[in-house]
Parts: sequence; structure tokens; C-alpha cells
Amino acid sequence: MHSANNYLLEQFVRDSTNHRTDEYGGPVENRLRFPLAVVRAVIDVWGADRVGIRISPITTAPGETPPDSNPMETFGRYLDELSKLGLLYVHAIEGQTQTSRATGGVDFVALRKRFGGFYIANNQYTLDVAQRTLAQGGADLFSIGRPFIANPDLINRLRTGAPLAEAPKEYWYGGDSTGYSDWPAMDGQIAMPEK
Ligand SMILES: Cc1cc2nc3c(=O)[nH]c(=O)nc-3n(C[C@H](O)[C@H](O)[C@H](O)COP(=O)(O)O)c2cc1C
Repeated sequence: MHSANNYLLEQFVRDSTNHRTDEYGGPVENRLRFPLAVVRAVIDVWGADRVGIRISPITTAPGETPPDSNPMETFGRYLDELSKLGLLYVHAIEGQTQTSRATGGVDFVALRKRFGGFYIANNQYTLDVAQRTLAQGGADLFSIGRPFIANPDLINRLRTGAPLAEAPKEYWYGGDSTGYSDWPAMDGQIAMPEK
């Protein structure tokens, strides 16, 4: 479930964007009411062990959306409730998406500990940063996005310390496969999906 990047569900969660005066606005338990109702509806169909959720406690994009006035408390409560529902995983964008890992006062390792299921950490992870976070108990899994574009064999490159290619951003959003999914692996092969 997408509850990140200031899309609809996150607009309910943050006090900066939720200006409602009914039972869906005001105190944190009210602001969580709609997102949790959506989570319950999805769980009713698929089962909690097949449902994960994406959150982005301090991301301001898009639209330079202000963060919640107390993201630690608000997202801590959100994770408490998601834990009770037995969700399989939380996927957290830590910092500003694609821009910075500055946490704006949010302790992501402490936040992670509020959730009983798996925690997938995202945003600007390198092998070094992932290893440090893992040692602190800050994540179970890491999601790596952009480096996979130009390095279809990213895992092998990280294992062997091989250099990483960098895909120019102009090819990311639109166009065809050029510069997006035509990058060769170290052996010169273009990765093809397995049949
Ligand atoms: C080409 C491209 C498309 C993306 N599309 C989405 C999207 O549709 N929804 C979303 O929440 N994040 C999207 N993202 C953001 C990534 O999921 C991820 O949060 C971000 O790239 C930071 O991770 P990274 O530093 O490992 O790349 C996209 C990123 C890229 C590069």
C-alpha cells in the first residue's frame, strides 16, 4: 500500500496537510483513522501476511509539503497500529526522496523498533550505509532504486567491489528503453527477465 510521498493516505496522517474538523482530523488517532481503515480493507481481501505499506515520514516532495509537526510521535503511533494489524512489512523512505538522508529529527532506528514486522529501508542506500544500519538493528532489508538502472548486475558489483555506472536522470521518466533498461552487465550482456 502506498502511504508515502504525500499522496492521499499521507495527507491524512500529517497535521500539516490534514485540516479536517471531523473524526478524520485533529488528534493523531483521528488522522490515522482513514489510512488504517484502508489498511484493514486491504487486509480483509489479501490477509495481513501479504500486505506491506510504504511511508515517508519527512519527505517534502512533491509540492514542498511540510512535514508533520511531530513526525516521531505521529509515525510511531502509525507503526504501533500497523504492528497490531500484523502487517508483513513497512517500507520507509528515510530522509528526502532521492535528495538527502538528513532525517529532520526523526530517529529511524528508534522508529523501526516500533514495528513488529519486517522493515525495509530506502533512500540513497550504498553498501556501506546499509551495513552500518544493519549493525544498529535499523532494518531487515534494503531497497535500492536508482543504482539498479545502470547496473542490472548491481548485487554482483557490490559483492566484488566493481565500479558502478550512473544513469543520467534525463532517461528515467519517459521515452523508451534507451538509457533506462538497456544498460549492460559487467559481462556485456543486457539483463533479460527470466521466463
Ligand atoms: C525512475 C523512477 C521512478 C520512480 N517511481 C516511483 C513511484 O512511482 N512511486 C514512488 O513512491 N517512488 C518512486 N520512485 C522513488 C523510489 O521508489 C525511491 O524511493 C527513490 O529512488 C530513493 O531510492 P534510491 O536512492 O535507492 O533510488 C521512483 C524512482 C525512480 C528512479
